[in-house]
Amino acid sequence: MRTVQVQAPSADYEVRIGAGLLAGLGPAVREVTGARRCMLVSGENVFPLYGGAALESLRAAGLQAEFAVFPAGEGTKSLATYGDLLERLTGARFTRGDCLVALGGGVTGDLTGFTAATYQRGVPYVQVPTTLLSAVDASVGGKTALNLPAAKNQVGAFYQPSLVLCDTDTLATLPDRELRSGMAEVIKYAVLGDADLFDTLMCGCYSMEEVIEICVRMKAGIVAEDETDRGRRRLLNLGHTFGHAVESKSAYRLTHGECVAIGMAMICRAAVRLGRLDAASEKAVSELLERAGLPTRTDFGQEELFETLLLDKKFDSGKLHLVVPRAVGWCETLAVTPEELRRWLEAGLDGNEV
Ligand code: GLY
Repeated sequence: MRTVQVQAPSADYEVRIGAGLLAGLGPAVREVTGARRCMLVSGENVFPLYGGAALESLRAAGLQAEFAVFPAGEGTKSLATYGDLLERLTGARFTRGDCLVALGGGVTGDLTGFTAATYQRGVPYVQVPTTLLSAVDASVGGKTALNLPAAKNQVGAFYQPSLVLCDTDTLATLPDRELRSGMAEVIKYAVLGDADLFDTLMCGCYSMEEVIEICVRMKAGIVAEDETDRGRRRLLNLGHTFGHAVESKSAYRLTHGECVAIGMAMICRAAVRLGRLDAASEKAVSELLERAGLPTRTDFGQEELFETLLLDKKFDSGKLHLVVPRAVGWCETLAVTPEELRRWLEAGLDGNEV
């Protein structure tokens, strides 16, 4: 087992990464939360695969474990589902001494985390990511959120889990498309801060455990320095500004990872055209994304994407912090006005049809 310690200003916790860890979920939950009761929250696609083993481990450790299962997909990160989960907790008389366990990908983690952050002003929760995307990014760092019809992640809280337990065996059942989506976040980490990881991914000579640990270690360092996204943590949004706009326009037909890949390729192209990145680095990033089976272009036009970009919640005093690559393994954030953002978008879409 590999362990990464996250030392965020608001909480310290471990990310445990390894094969077969799900069998030890119950003792781990008891150890870190001290709870005697928990609500296991999962999605309809994941629960049939791992819900039984999770409940068995929780119950064998003496926890009274209830469960709540929701449809898979972004639609579940809604106020309605959140209300439903709160009602279940209230109905079962959950108290602050009890805990929640999120078994699944980013949607389950975000819904469970936000519910944990707000139910009775905060109860402990444990993240058990079962997707690569969640293992390397979403489950770590305490960002929790719900979507509103107008835009993604409009309601949320920074609320750290008590533990992240990543059983790498669960990645074996991931559909190829989900695995590819997770690779987009892995490539994001390489481009934003680890040229060695980039080379390792290019040569394909790595184990998934190793790659997850590298990404989580980088994220832990960033979250320790900037838990609430006011500074360095913004770097983790590489590819996300344009990516979120594409995701929202596609009405979630494209996965988050696919959109991040498109967003990353677009910002690299824009950075070359606006004199911030060399063409060879841009080519290498696009090549790695394509090798991972990820898209690098969008059919959406400038006007429709710009309209969506203006809704980005990260606009702050009229400026948005755009993450711009300067080299593989080095990115910076630029505070841009809407007019400047339009220029970046135009440059990112330039040659889109090539
Ligand atoms: N997913 C980006 C972050 O956690 O900040």
